[in-house]
Amino acid sequence: MSATPTISWSEDVSARSAQPAQPARSAHWHSESCAPPPHRVVVADDRTKAATAYQLACEGTALLWRGDFHNARQLLRAMGRRIDRKANPARPDATPAESFHLHRRARGHRARVLGKLLVLLEDDHSLTLRRAPDVRRACTEAYGPPRGGRVVSLTELLGVIGAHQWREKGVEVPALGDGVRVHPHYGVFSPVRGEYVDLVAQAPLPANPRTAFDLGTGTGVLAAVLARRGLSHVVATDISPRALACARENAGRLGLAGRVEVGGPDLYPEGRADLVVCNPPWLPARPTSTVEQGVYDPDGTMLHGFLHGLAAHLNPGGEGWLVLSDLAEHLGLRTREALLTAITTAGLRVTDRLDTSPRHPRARDTTDPLHRVRAAEVTSLWRLIPD
Ligand SMILES: C[S@@+](CC[C@H](N)C(=O)[O-])C[C@H]1O[C@@H](n2cnc3c(N)ncnc32)[C@H](O)[C@@H]1O
Repeated sequence: MSATPTISWSEDVSARSAQPAQPARSAHWHSESCAPPPHRVVVADDRTKAATAYQLACEGTALLWRGDFHNARQLLRAMGRRIDRKANPARPDATPAESFHLHRRARGHRARVLGKLLVLLEDDHSLTLRRAPDVRRACTEAYGPPRGGRVVSLTELLGVIGAHQWREKGVEVPALGDGVRVHPHYGVFSPVRGEYVDLVAQAPLPANPRTAFDLGTGTGVLAAVLARRGLSHVVATDISPRALACARENAGRLGLAGRVEVGGPDLYPEGRADLVVCNPPWLPARPTSTVEQGVYDPDGTMLHGFLHGLAAHLNPGGEGWLVLSDLAEHLGLRTREALLTAITTAGLRVTDRLDTSPRHPRARDTTDPLHRVRAAEVTSLWRLIPD
C-alpha cells in the first residue's frame, strides 16, 4: 500500500517577521482529483494580495490559508477572475470536439491554479480559521471518520460543504411522487436533470416483470422508480462505494429496502433479470476525479460492458433499457453509427426508442461555450432485446 502523501510548511516564513522561523509542520495531503502534493507551500493570510496569490499559484506554489475564512473565499473569487481574464477566447472556427477539449483543458487549468489555495483540517476535521463554518459533519460524510489532520484545497472543501447541503436538502424527483426527494452523497451523480428519470418512469415495461438490475445506480433513483413501478426485486450496482452507500440510504428512506438490494461494484450482479436498466456516463472521456466518474466513461467502457453482458443476463422475454444522451455525438466524441454497430455487435436489436429534450437551465445558458450543442441535445431510452 502506498503511504499517504504529506506536505510540510513553516508557519513563519515571512521576511518581515522578526521572529525566527518556526520548525516545519506537516500534515497529510488529500486530493479527490489525485493532484500531487505541492512541493512548495507558503503561509497566506488576510494581507495576501490576489495578484501575489495568483502569481504564486501559477508558478506551482501552494498557499496555506491562515486568515479569515470569508476572506479566503473572496481571494479565491479574485484569483478566478484573473484566470478568466487571461483565458483564450473561444475560437469560432473550432469544431465541437476541439471546443470541448479546449473547454475541458481551460477548466483543468482553472482547477489547478485555484486548487493551490489550501486549508488545514484539524484532527477532528474542524477548521480553526476566523469565521469558519463547522465543517466536521460535511467532511466526515465525504471523507469518512477523521484520521488525523489533513490539508485540502479550499475549492475541494467548498465542494464538500455544497455536497453536504445537497444531501441535507435532497433533490426532488417528481417521478417518485409529489415532493419525494432523493439525497445525493458527496461524489455521487445527482438526478438534477429529471427528464431521463421520467423516461424510465414512463417506458412500457416488458410483460410481467418481477426482477430488474440497475447498473451504475448512483443515488439509486432509477432502482427506486422501478421498485415503485411494481418490480419486486431490483439489484443495484455501481463502481463507486459512495454511490452504493448512497443508494442503500435512499432505498431505506423511501421505504424500498425490501425491494431494492444494493449489490457490489461489479457491473452485472449474478444471475438474470426481466429488465436491465443502465444510464452510463454520457461522455466517452477520462474522468479527472472520482467526482467525475458519473459524467465521463473512459473509452465507453461501461456502455460496452452493459451491451456485451446484456443478452447473458436477461430472462426470456426480458429487455434492456439504455439511457443515453446524444451529447457525445454533437461533440464529435462518438457517432450514431458507432453506437448502432456496438448494439448489433453485442447481439442486440433496438425495438423502440423514447426521446426527450433537456429541461435543465444549462441548456438555455447562452454564455456556456458548449451552448449550441447542449441546446440540440436529445436524451433517449433505447429498448433492446437479444437478436
Ligand atoms: C450517469 S451516472 C447515473 C446514475 C444513476 N443511475 C442515475 O440515473 O441518476 C453513471 C453511474 O455509473 C457509475 N459508473 C461509472 N463507471 C462504471 C463502471 N465501469 N461500472 C459500474 N458503474 C459505473 C458511476 O459511478 C455513476 O454512478
